Amino acid sequence: MPHATQHEAEDAVGLIGLGAYAPARVMTNADWTAWIDTSAEWITSRTGIERRRFAAADETTVDLAEQAARRALADAGLSPTQLDEIIVTTDTPEVYFPDTAAFLQHRLGAREIPSYDLAGSGCSGFLQGLDIARSRVMTGARRVLVVGVELLSRLIDWRDRSTCVLFGDGAGAVVVAREPGASRIVASVAGTDGSKTELLILEAGGSRRPITEDVARRGLHRHIAMDGRGVFREAVTRMSAAARQVLARAGLSARELGLVVPHQANVRIIDAVARSLALSPSQVFTNVKDFGNTGSASVPLALCQARAAGRVEPGAYVLLVSFGAGFHWAATLLRASDTLAPRRAPVA
Ligand code: UT7
Repeated sequence: MPHATQHEAEDAVGLIGLGAYAPARVMTNADWTAWIDTSAEWITSRTGIERRRFAAADETTVDLAEQAARRALADAGLSPTQLDEIIVTTDTPEVYFPDTAAFLQHRLGAREIPSYDLAGSGCSGFLQGLDIARSRVMTGARRVLVVGVELLSRLIDWRDRSTCVLFGDGAGAVVVAREPGASRIVASVAGTDGSKTELLILEAGGSRRPITEDVARRGLHRHIAMDGRGVFREAVTRMSAAARQVLARAGLSARELGLVVPHQANVRIIDAVARSLALSPSQVFTNVKDFGNTGSASVPLALCQARAAGRVEPGAYVLLVSFGAGFHWAATLLRASDTLAPRRAPVA
């Protein structure tokens, strides 16, 4: 059995505000056919992706993070000075160091509160951050901001057709607090299998392969090595298992879920997980068609959109589930309060 974390449902720690941001520029599948051997039809049929958002040349990771964070704060009715901690999850930081959270703390005008990044956990970063935020609130922090942000278009190897069509840019944020009106975090599980690090990896830039002139000339600094089929299989297995595990912890069945918001990497992965859990289409939210895979931003961005689309009923159980490089996986079960009711503006 993989290691798992568990939290019982003995408190009302949960989400009190949500926000998301996606940059304006839209890249359609047809745009890629100009420089790689692909077709819009191939991309759509194999992934479900039709378009994705890309940041403008002058936009950086902290710009995206700030927009999502300000929206989440406004949604919670808070000012940045009321935050007690900031967690940013990203694989595409503002700079190599210091971390993006330091830039965000200053940009928001927050107090001199602890601010740090969770980096490198791929698409599972946000749910890991959410789990940490919850434990920080349980040990005394009143309000913790968690931002999942990714500017993957800066990493893309434009010549590698097997990866360059998959990713998009975006950010999603939540404020976690102990409040009666919060969308309560009922239970969460997470796990890691570090035996498969090589199946999805960006090697250059680390100590193993520093960026030299030769590495840069060969474009290895932006080469995401991925065994697509291996990642696909593992994503289905791990997300299905994590979902079952978190449901078992809460004593619920999949039938009782109001909505599942999975990591948005590939609609075929989402469909396979839905089949494995015998979910009906109305129980599953997808937006991969419009945003592609936005890594750490994927789950909070999708949750914001699900809310704006009126897909979450107050009182419903909402399951968030993710899988990413590492391999890491995580699942979080929420009990929706009014904070997930469809009263807020959609993602820009
Ligand atoms: O969040 C975690 C991040 N990553 C993922 O979630 C990715 C998980 N994996 C996947 O989503 C899928 O494996 C892919 C979408 C990446 C690929 O789909 P697939 O059905 O597994 O295709 P494949 O890798 O088995 O490739 C089939 C063929 C290959 O050609 P040959 O060897 O059969 O001649 C590829 O070269 O498709 C080719 N191919 C493409 N053709 C046109 C790969 N990329 C493209 C492309 N356009 N963009």
